[in-house]
Amino acid sequence: MEVVLLPTPEDCGRVVADALEGALTGARDRGAPVVLGLATGSSPLLAYRELIRRHTEDGTSYDDVTAVLLDEYVGLPAGHPESYREVIRRELTDALGIDPARVHGPDGAGPDPLAAALDYEALLEATGPVAVQLLGIGTNGHIGFNEPGSSLASRTRVKTLTEQTRADNARFFGDDAEAVPRHVLTQGLGTILRAGHLVLVATGEHKAAPVAAAVEGPLTASVPGSVLQLHPHVTVVVDEAAGSRLQLADHHRYVLEHKLAAQGW
Ligand code: F6R
Repeated sequence: MEVVLLPTPEDCGRVVADALEGALTGARDRGAPVVLGLATGSSPLLAYRELIRRHTEDGTSYDDVTAVLLDEYVGLPAGHPESYREVIRRELTDALGIDPARVHGPDGAGPDPLAAALDYEALLEATGPVAVQLLGIGTNGHIGFNEPGSSLASRTRVKTLTEQTRADNARFFGDDAEAVPRHVLTQGLGTILRAGHLVLVATGEHKAAPVAAAVEGPLTASVPGSVLQLHPHVTVVVDEAAGSRLQLADHHRYVLEHKLAAQGW
């Protein structure tokens, strides 16, 4: 696992954009599916703005890219502004010129979320492997919407959000935690582990504890983000505030300073 500690959230956005572009280029070069795994929430936004800036200024092409989402709320009607399909269209994929037909997420709006979970897992099997999966981390250590206690081998399924996560996400729903759906569909931890490269981004002091627990704590279902320790290619990108509880912070800075150009992301 590579831990990249950077001074500002903007620096994190640039490095995440580099890592995502590099993984997509690598997939193209290998003749592998060019599948980009996306997260929603606040953490990826600066990286998304950087990707859009590069696309606009340099013409970086996304013509061959398929995008897949990590998760979705259950019960928001299709087209609801806070449904993750809608958020990702608004924040990223439209601006990159990715055809909506090539942007996939679990269907949380249909009558049968349990079947939708199986369908989404099958779609990921058929479309993947995901070249690179971007992740945020919840204040309780979740990745995707795999809340504490999630099986480390889980697949896409329905989960019930903790009250903590609903409170954390209330800001997207007019500060009303009761308006945040209670149920979600999420790629499982086992599903996420199938991606070729995992890139987790976290910024701000409120992420310091979950980042330290995921990166340096024991592997445990109580901290779903700790499952990253099982993956052979993980890049954790944090600003100084989110990395402030890492005991090995000095070592990570040293490694970054002495990184070989050939190592890439
Ligand atoms: C969102 C997702 C979640 C978020 C996490 C952090 O698709 O999968 O795991 O990444 O809740 O959210 P923010 O970035 O808003 O702090």
